[in-house]
Amino acid sequence: RPRYRHALWLAPLLLAACEGRQSALVPAGEDARILGDLFWVMLIGAVLLWIGMNGLFYWATRRSPAPHSQTLANWLVIIGGILFPTVTLGALLVYGLSIMPDLRATGDGPVIRVTGEQWWWRVEYERADGTTVTTANEIRLPAGVRSTFLLDSKKVIHSFWVPSLGGKMDMFPGRVTEMTLGPERPGIYRGQCAEFCGESHAWMAFEAEVMEPEDFDAWLEAEAADAMPPEGDLAQRGAALFLAQGCGACHAVRGTPAVGRVGPDLTHVGSRHSLAAGRLGTSAEDFVRWVANPGAWKPGAEMPAYAHLSDAQLAAIAAYLEGLE
Ligand code: CUA
Repeated sequence: RPRYRHALWLAPLLLAACEGRQSALVPAGEDARILGDLFWVMLIGAVLLWIGMNGLFYWATRRSPAPHSQTLANWLVIIGGILFPTVTLGALLVYGLSIMPDLRATGDGPVIRVTGEQWWWRVEYERADGTTVTTANEIRLPAGVRSTFLLDSKKVIHSFWVPSLGGKMDMFPGRVTEMTLGPERPGIYRGQCAEFCGESHAWMAFEAEVMEPEDFDAWLEAEAADAMPPEGDLAQRGAALFLAQGCGACHAVRGTPAVGRVGPDLTHVGSRHSLAAGRLGTSAEDFVRWVANPGAWKPGAEMPAYAHLSDAQLAAIAAYLEGLE
């Protein structure tokens, strides 16, 4: 007997992993809150049912005076076997259907197109004037409005999920799926690809930063601007090397001859929090690590290794990219 009591201590440990910035149980938006409530209703309901069923089982096998009357047996079947499940499952169905309109409410905030790539996220904001601002691996959202996401994929199925903000939605090649999210609490939340998509699926993360609306507007305005010219000798050499090595065939740095669309847009990469979809930070050392050997950090990454570059050349390119704020 006492052995089982120790097992009870494990229960809070299971829930301890649910805290933090990537948790469906710590909602920071209305969608996550609605889904969190549904989870708790289902969990508490299931626990009550489990206790009830085991109580009945205990009573029937250990406690009830034998023999049973046929009438009691009939009532048990009618109430326990038909009426109770019908009412309970019916109520759950009505509750489940009732929350769907809230989760599908149309967006009054920005429209953001997110494309799943191997293995990173292309993020494009549609602005009121018809222009598009492209960035990657980081999504910024204004608090208090519902943003619309147009989800798409390049090659395979991915799934877009920010547990603190709402439910997940699959991304299919050649078909745009749409979802809206209504974040409420400013902060930085972690998103993760939730559909196995290849060898670096586990490294396909991103950050969703919920901002005050005026901060978001200012950020988008700055993000729309072209890259600043590199400052300092090292960064200037890096900029020249970046073009000479052909980086601009895959990457765009707006305001320069680099206009590639294959890899992430790097116009303001130095201001982002992460490199390679959450894999590395954006310090100069991180850029060196990534450029020298992307496959070491993200197996299967499409970007080739630039291991032939000297340390000085890598440092120059890193200085240039870090300075793209
Ligand atoms: Cu993309 Cu898993």
